[in-house]
Order: sequence, then C-alpha cells, then structure tokens
Amino acid sequence: MFTELPLLPADPILGLSAAFYADTNPDKVDLGVGVYKTEQGNTPILSCVKQAEAQLHQSQNSKVYTPPAGIPGANQAAAALAFGEQHAVIRQQRLATIQTPGGCGALRTAAELIAKANPRASIWVSNPTWGNHVPLLSGAGISLKEYPYYDFARQKIDFDAMLATLSQAGKDDLVLLHACCHNPSGADLTPSQWQQITALAAERGFTPFIDMAYQGFGEGLAEDAYGVRLMAEQLPRLILAMSFSKNLGLYRERTGSLSIVAPSSTIAEASLSQILSITRGLYSMPPAHGSSLLDIIYHNKNLYSLWQQELTDMRTRIGSLRQQLVSALNSTQQHIDFSFIAQQRGMFSFLGLNKAQVTRLKNDYSVYMTDNSRVNIAGVNSANLDYLSRAVGQVLS
Ligand code: LMR
Repeated sequence: MFTELPLLPADPILGLSAAFYADTNPDKVDLGVGVYKTEQGNTPILSCVKQAEAQLHQSQNSKVYTPPAGIPGANQAAAALAFGEQHAVIRQQRLATIQTPGGCGALRTAAELIAKANPRASIWVSNPTWGNHVPLLSGAGISLKEYPYYDFARQKIDFDAMLATLSQAGKDDLVLLHACCHNPSGADLTPSQWQQITALAAERGFTPFIDMAYQGFGEGLAEDAYGVRLMAEQLPRLILAMSFSKNLGLYRERTGSLSIVAPSSTIAEASLSQILSITRGLYSMPPAHGSSLLDIIYHNKNLYSLWQQELTDMRTRIGSLRQQLVSALNSTQQHIDFSFIAQQRGMFSFLGLNKAQVTRLKNDYSVYMTDNSRVNIAGVNSANLDYLSRAVGQVLS
C-alpha cells in the first residue's frame, strides 16, 4: 500500500508561497497566491469580522452540530447577496442554497451533483481558467471541454470565438462562467455579453455554472452579480458557487455557498435532498465559524455598512495599484503596452510573459508569479513597485 504512489510536484499556485517564504532575498516580491494585501504587505482581518467575532464569542453557547445545509441565516445572506433580496427565484422558492467549505467545496459538491444527475454531462471551462477548476470538477468524473476566452495577443476577451464555440453546447452541457474578476485574466464580460450568452443558453439549453469568488472586488456587490441575476431571471436553471474568502477576508475559515436555481420549487427541494446526501458522504456538515460571521455581518446594519466600506477600500486600492503598475511598467520598457491592466478587474492580470521569463524573474529577481505570468495585483505596493517594474523591464529586454 502506498509504495507505488509517485511524488507529485507542489501545487502551481499554493506551492509558490512556500518557495517565496524560503527565499532570503530582502527585495523578494510575492505576486502568487490570490490574497488581498495592504500597502504593508499584510492580509488583515477585516474590522467588521473582528467585531462580529466578538459578538459571536459572547453569544455562542454551544458547539453542537449545525443543520446539514449550514446556518440558515448565512444561507439567506448568501442568496440575497447573489440574487438580491427580492429576486423571483427567492420569492418562487426555486432556489436550494447550502453553505460549503469554501468556494472549492461548492464547486466539487456541484460537480458530484451533476455527475449523479446526468452521467453524459460535460462542463465547458474557459481557456484559461483558474487552475484548480480542473481537478475540482473532473475529480467528480465529469468530462471537461474548453471554450476560448482570453486572447493573449490582444489582451482581451475573444468574445466571437467564445460564442461560436458555445453555440455547439447542448442540453447535456454546463458552461462554467466567472461572475466577475475572471481568474486568471482579469477580463470580464460586459452586460451586453452576458445578455448574449444568456440568449444562447436559452436557445441551446445548456446550464450556466457560475463561479463567484470575488463579488465586490470588480465594481460592487450588486454590479458584480449582474450576470448571475440576469441568468437566474431568464433561464430555468443554473448553478452558483460562491466564496467569501476574498470579500470577507475569511480565507482559512473555508466559507462558501452553493445555490441551485431549479425550474420549480419541487425540483429545488429534490436537488437540495440530493446535495445533502452528497455532502453527508463527504463531510457531513460545513464549518460554522465563517458563516456565523457572514450571518452576523449581513444582518447587522452597522457591521454591514462597515463591510461595504472595507470592501470599497480594498477594491479602490486594487484599482489604484493597477494604474500605478501600468505607469511604472510602461516607463521601464518599450516592448509591451501594459495599459490593458488598468482596464481589467479584480485581483489578477497576465503580464504576457513566457515561462522562461517568469522563471528568470523568480530565479534572478525573487519576483514570484504563476508560470502563465498571472500576477496578484494586490501584492504590489509602493515599496516594491520600482523594483518589480525594473525586473520585468530586464527580462523583456
Ligand atoms: C488563487 O487563485 O490564487 C486563489 O484563488 C487561491 C487558490 O486557492 O488558488
């Protein structure tokens, strides 16, 4: 037993952190794992979270199991944040929502449900997509297909190619879409593009499967849910995975949510029963701490407005870093016009470097990013901006 198991390489994203910490260069720059960082390079606990934790500490008097779907108030908060409190799918009870161990838990649980519901199902994922989508979804035994998304040469979405490919998708297919802040490209669909994909889904009968891991990091909570709300309004079914790792800074608390929008309340109820049988076989019930905080913050007027402020601050800071990075990169080299970075949203953009250049940045300058040259913009600060830009200029020259 186990003797035949080969040693695997480190995870392409999480493995970067270990390499970064082991690096003794005082100028090292971490643009790897997607976590928000302050000007000082810290990932702090949000004040709204600290205050909610103090309340929780006072009020919690048992660690007894939560219901299998998680804390009801957190599920209600997640659904309201995603769809808006008055959305038809909530009023018509066509929604099944559970709390999950992070966005990853939601993605995998959904994949298990799809495999159970339709063994012929395929999931179309964008090229490129978040690296962990592939093991999370295909681990449930579902075949994955790719649709073109980001055009590296033009540094924008190739929407015509995306639509042309997705027009082959049919009723056994699901199409994984990023609600906002596309990971890894930072290139988001416009409202008009969401409308066109919604119309295509209605025509072809495929089911949208939306991953919303960065709600509030693009334009705002409601704005970033535009595609989710539109599709839920116009289509009979969709799947939504949410993460509160980024927008509430709850990374290690593994706080996520899975929602199924069904054609009827009866199908929603049946879907929920199936999901709960899947999660019982995986982990019984989700962790409670992060979702208790979501419940408290969403339902407390002062904490909710403090969260809005803190989320706005994080989003504004990333927007300003994007501008600063463009000026610094464009002034240190003439090979690439980096203006596209300022047009993109959320935590990530591609620098457009090849693997050899990324390796050189790591080995010669201690600048860390994933092999495809995805950078975590939040890792930039005024202390490392010049060094980083000169290093990129050097590898491009
Ligand atoms: C990322 O893409 O860097 C984050 O979502 C963290 C992760 O788990 O990969």
